[in-house]
Amino acid sequence: MTGEKLSACPEVSGFSIRLEDVEKWYGGKVREERPAVHIPSLSIRGGEWAVLMGDSGSGKSTLLNLVGGVDLPDSGKILLGDNTINLIDERERTLFRRKHMGFVFQFFNLFPTLSVRENVLLPLGLLGRRDPDAIGRLLEEVGLSGMGNRYPSELSGGEQQRVALARALVHRPQIILADEPTGSLDHRTGMVVLGLLQRLHREYGPTILMSTHSEEAARFGERVLHIRDGEIMKVAPVTTPDA
Ligand SMILES: Nc1ncnc2c1ncn2[C@@H]1O[C@H](COP(=O)(O)OP(=O)(O)O)[C@@H](O)[C@H]1O
Ligand SMILES: [Mg+2]
Repeated sequence: MTGEKLSACPEVSGFSIRLEDVEKWYGGKVREERPAVHIPSLSIRGGEWAVLMGDSGSGKSTLLNLVGGVDLPDSGKILLGDNTINLIDERERTLFRRKHMGFVFQFFNLFPTLSVRENVLLPLGLLGRRDPDAIGRLLEEVGLSGMGNRYPSELSGGEQQRVALARALVHRPQIILADEPTGSLDHRTGMVVLGLLQRLHREYGPTILMSTHSEEAARFGERVLHIRDGEIMKVAPVTTPDA
């Protein structure tokens, strides 16, 4: 499959995400009153774009870090497809993350000493893969053709986040985790970045879990998970006003 077509033929089918009885205590049960995250049960279907909304400190980043296997829960299971990410060993978890996941952050997290091209190619390099075609196409898709040799400091915030999108997708991951991806962009630029993510989602078909403060950003997803004090209080389908 070459993925020539937009939307009709996704190249990957995203992994489902399931949490069962997950708890994360940062300070331990003796020192903390309640866990930073407590989720008895949560299911996100493969290919879905789910949005995590909640105030600062509600547990969004903690939950994303747990799903990404960056951090481990104190109890429970986190299943990505058939893989229980928190019960495999550290080495396997790192390999799983490199192969199957892409990350987008609020402050872009690009490597300042690497060019745009090198930043985008990084996930492929870690997998020992090369795909010279992928990068040209991706840079074109995010509107950065011709900018491959620039450095992050030579780009605007919106452009840096578009580089980050290309980097998150270059290895065709099954899951994209995006932690407030528009949080440091102005409104208009944020919408442009989400529009691109929407296009890439339709084309590549990964499962997306994205946190945001913005109602408008949340409308790009399919379901909103409202989180408060580490608990999912409500799950609501996204309703588009003009649908
Ligand atoms: N590394 C950490 N050590 C101790 N407590 C933490 C750590 N990270 C987050 N917390 C606490 O966990 C809760 C959830 O934080 P976080 O997941 O960062 O929320 P959000 O991303 O929604 O702003 C907060 O009470 C925060 O203070
Ligand atoms: Mg956060």
